[in-house]
Amino acid sequence: MDCQMETAEIIAQDREHSSGALSAAPVAIVRGAGVWLWDPEGTEYLDCGSGIGVAALGHAHPALVAAIADQAKSLMTCASGYYFNDLRSQLASKLTGIAPDGLERVFFSNSGTEAVETAIKLACATTGRPKVVAAMRGFHGRTLGALATTWKPSFRTPFASLLSDATHIPYNDVERLTDAVDATTAAVILEPIQGEGGIYPATSEFLRAARALCNDHGALLIFDEVQSGMGRTGRWFACEHYGITPDILCIAKALGGGVPIGATLFHSALQFAKGQHGSTFGGNPLSCRAALAVVDAIEQENLLDHISDVGSAFLDKLRSLQEERPERIREVRGMGLMLALELRSKAGPILKALEERGILALSGGSTVVRFLPPYIFTHVDVDRVMNVLAEVLR
Ligand SMILES: Cc1ncc(COP(=O)(O)O)c(C=O)c1O
Repeated sequence: MDCQMETAEIIAQDREHSSGALSAAPVAIVRGAGVWLWDPEGTEYLDCGSGIGVAALGHAHPALVAAIADQAKSLMTCASGYYFNDLRSQLASKLTGIAPDGLERVFFSNSGTEAVETAIKLACATTGRPKVVAAMRGFHGRTLGALATTWKPSFRTPFASLLSDATHIPYNDVERLTDAVDATTAAVILEPIQGEGGIYPATSEFLRAARALCNDHGALLIFDEVQSGMGRTGRWFACEHYGITPDILCIAKALGGGVPIGATLFHSALQFAKGQHGSTFGGNPLSCRAALAVVDAIEQENLLDHISDVGSAFLDKLRSLQEERPERIREVRGMGLMLALELRSKAGPILKALEERGILALSGGSTVVRFLPPYIFTHVDVDRVMNVLAEVLR
């Protein structure tokens, strides 16, 4: 459907009804194709954020569009708590097939935070313990269970009285992790690569210690791969780079390529009791069909190798830029198409300057410019970004 409104009108109408919670740039996006986005006036933007890591196949990918349209004609919902469905069972089988060994069970939900809620509930129900250990700078969502494990104090403090027991230790600090995990720990939850916190990969030593501590203390290891999972780092799951398998794995974002879906995969030895968890929309045929189309396209278009190839070229170019401009760039981090540039100044003005030149990137903390482009990003797209980046940092 063609957009009938202008940017100013869209923004004014939105602000009139604003919840107050969201802070958006004064840009309205109304159409997308591949790696490109457009506003109502026809201004073109190169998408380096994928809707925060969601549009894995880019926008309006023909196979995903066809799958959703076809499914809408057939069946969109069927009360997953009551009945079985072919697409839900196929997706469960597909995801457990690509996941690390042992993760044989799945609970479907609708978002990243719900995937984490599910993981925390499962860990607490299984162990009968109250405490979760999480990492500083970590982000696991905004609903109350997940929020307890999210680090940013400004997100958590207003709701402190409602939050369950979580301890935050510095990321990659084995000693502090060792001190924090004990016989009261239900789970340790970690992102193998911190996303919202600014793209910080874990050290192998840290994830190995987390695995060993959970084993020693009878706690469960949860990897939150809502941002890093489903191929973004060049492997299906970032934990594969480390060879460490969690007991519970949370995914969402790229899984549906834009259709809301979350999933919590867990070890075959774990299981909810009947009725202990549920979701009206979770595992509905429409979102499962979309996710199956995303997984198929990633396989058929060989996108994991493509991400590794384009991602490492992008990383090399960001590193070269850092060598040229060390007075502007403090550090370059990331894997695959999950990359960041840490500046020596605030990222806001640079993001604004990129936007004015047709590049939409993300922040990741106050000094970090974050890139989560669609998996179909090409070397040419990388060069487009690098040229503009070099210009705005000049
Ligand atoms: C690692 C991680 N976990 C959980 C979430 C929450 O996902 P959602 O916004 O879909 O609830 C996010 C969102 O950015 C995330 O990056």
